Amino acid sequence: MEFKEKILVLDFGSQYTQLIARRVREQKVYSEILPYNVTIDRIREFAPKGIILSGGPSSVYDKDAPLPDKAIFSLGVPILGICYGMQLMARMLGGKVAKAAKREYGRAELIIDDDSDLLKGIGMTRRRGTASRAPNVVWMSHGDRIEKYPAGFVKIAHTDNSPVAAMADRKRRFFALQFHPEVVHTENGTKLLKNFVFNISKCRPLWTMKSFIETTVQEIREKAGKDKVVCAISGGVDSAVTAVLMNKAIGKQLTCIFVDNGVLRKGEAVKVETMLKKHFRMNIICVDAADRFLKKLNNVSDPERKRKIIGNEFIHVFQEEAKKIKDTTYLAQGTLYPDVIESISFKGPSAMIKSHHNVGGLLKNMKLKLIEPLRELFKDEVRVLGRELGMPEEIISRHPFPGPGLAIRIIGAVTPVRAEILRQADAIVLEEIKSAGLYDKVWQAFAVLLPIKTVGVMGDERTYENVVAVRAVKSVDGMTADWAQIPYEVLGIISNRIINEVKGVNRVVFDISSKPPSTIEWE
Ligand code: XMP
Repeated sequence: MEFKEKILVLDFGSQYTQLIARRVREQKVYSEILPYNVTIDRIREFAPKGIILSGGPSSVYDKDAPLPDKAIFSLGVPILGICYGMQLMARMLGGKVAKAAKREYGRAELIIDDDSDLLKGIGMTRRRGTASRAPNVVWMSHGDRIEKYPAGFVKIAHTDNSPVAAMADRKRRFFALQFHPEVVHTENGTKLLKNFVFNISKCRPLWTMKSFIETTVQEIREKAGKDKVVCAISGGVDSAVTAVLMNKAIGKQLTCIFVDNGVLRKGEAVKVETMLKKHFRMNIICVDAADRFLKKLNNVSDPERKRKIIGNEFIHVFQEEAKKIKDTTYLAQGTLYPDVIESISFKGPSAMIKSHHNVGGLLKNMKLKLIEPLRELFKDEVRVLGRELGMPEEIISRHPFPGPGLAIRIIGAVTPVRAEILRQADAIVLEEIKSAGLYDKVWQAFAVLLPIKTVGVMGDERTYENVVAVRAVKSVDGMTADWAQIPYEVLGIISNRIINEVKGVNRVVFDISSKPPSTIEWE
């Protein structure tokens, strides 16, 4: 994608690297992450107006410490080194780094010695004479510290434990910080990044969703030409936004395919079809393959087998439908930037790379080429894009739903009857979570059907029926999660409704496990 004013983030393996790029983009300046060992030619071609060197777990004196091409310091482009990025600047530019006497993690108080550019407007400043000093909290995470400045640098801030918490070489526009401005715990971190992006690197806030849509629509049109494109719709945000954006670009050249695999949520198929067909007037084929999937899944208990069956069957159904559309050349897919970064990471191909709703095999079998219009976006940006495209909030802010659907929430054997029991219980959980105003406050909320039966009494009769577990979690990215403290009254309503309305359930329990050590899904 062609954006003129952009910031390059070189990745040295910090857990916060993505956050740096996001913080820059929040300022409406385009930012991309490249691995630290990218060639200088690639960097020249990228033409950044500023470069940020991320933190990282290494020490610059490790035998194989990751170091960038030294030529980055001769590009004439402003550079900001963060944490490890600071230490490598010190080492590569002729300073000295040593192990800190005391390692410093977490909160520290920054004392600013010079607030002329990078630290401009950041709370209280110089410690001069009787000048009062307001605390400026920053977030540290390092074991090394600068012992000797590289030539041309001066100290611009310190903490009690780090005599050089920030340094600058104003002539060359090089700056370095021992702390992390990208994390929320660093007060004024955003202000500091803004100073780097706008005042020092001279970027303008041109990267808006509107400009993204204009550029991307143009690119899709050029790429697709007059060819036909298919797009798999899962009901999730990414594929829906991909479809709407593709539709805006190439209209009737696009055909979306939505497969009902028999383990979708209640009313899902109709909801998705209505939205895309009526609201956006899209070509969409909805395939009711529920019987076909459920037959294959019948009595299957092993979770990985369930996943495989659903994945393979999806490819078959999709392929059969797509073949009916003559001369299809492209498959549009909602790959997001975190997946792209993962796959270009210098750490090598990671086990985390997602095969994205099982479409990987389609490319090979059907000789399709890929269009991935969201590959530069983070998840929250996809939501902003969806809103800008006029998509309903119901689709934009919906909870993640696993590709294998309810099948991995039916613990034990999947059968059509058990799928129906869970579908009804799940719908009640969501209805009540929504009506209590909790839907947007939790990451996911759902029901799980357990493989045990328990005794109950209903009227004068003894029952021996299924147990449903209710799970609701809070999370930022799904990697870690805590159980959500749903009020007892809401849990009470959910339990009453499920037991009264869903035939075959006589007991409801609430899951109070966090991840780790548990996972969000039960299978
Ligand atoms: P876990 O259970 O690993 O889930 O804590 C983390 C997130 O991933 C989703 N999930 C899946 N998504 N296919 C998917 O597309 C799967 O097989 C799958 N398993 C888990 C889960 O819903 C949660 O958001």
